[in-house]
Amino acid sequence: MKIAVASDHAGFAMKEDIKNYLSELGHDVEDCGAYSDEKSADYPDLGIRAAGMVASGEADRGILVCGTGVGMSITANKVKGVYAALCADEFTARLSREHNAANVLALGGRTTGPGLARGIVKAWLGSEPDGGRHLVRRQKIADYESRAQKGG
Ligand code: RB5
Repeated sequence: MKIAVASDHAGFAMKEDIKNYLSELGHDVEDCGAYSDEKSADYPDLGIRAAGMVASGEADRGILVCGTGVGMSITANKVKGVYAALCADEFTARLSREHNAANVLALGGRTTGPGLARGIVKAWLGSEPDGGRHLVRRQKIADYESRAQKGG
């Protein structure tokens, strides 16, 4: 899979570790920045870039890291066609795929340890969306998104 990753300064170290892990797992990684943690970076600038790659189909999935993961998840969810889940445990990561078909994962570099983060990434990448009632619910979100875009 091609995976777009991004972080601000607070998520930089975790992003670098996740890049290594994704490469070990055989994925292609597109790094949208930040490229250093030496100066402060604004998470919307980096998050929109990576989420945009997922929305356009240039990347299959996205993984975004900021201090808490909150800023990145809010940012990514403003991009049409992106469904971002902030996950701090493996169970939520799996269900964010099975129930919610999340195509972007947000992580907190200051709140989640590196070992757990790798476990979350593994669970998230290894799970696929369920159909049935979950698909019906996801369609309601997509319908709302389309109506809202038309101003209805
Ligand atoms: C940066 O200090 C911090 O606000 C940011 O990384 C993130 O946690 C925002 O949600």
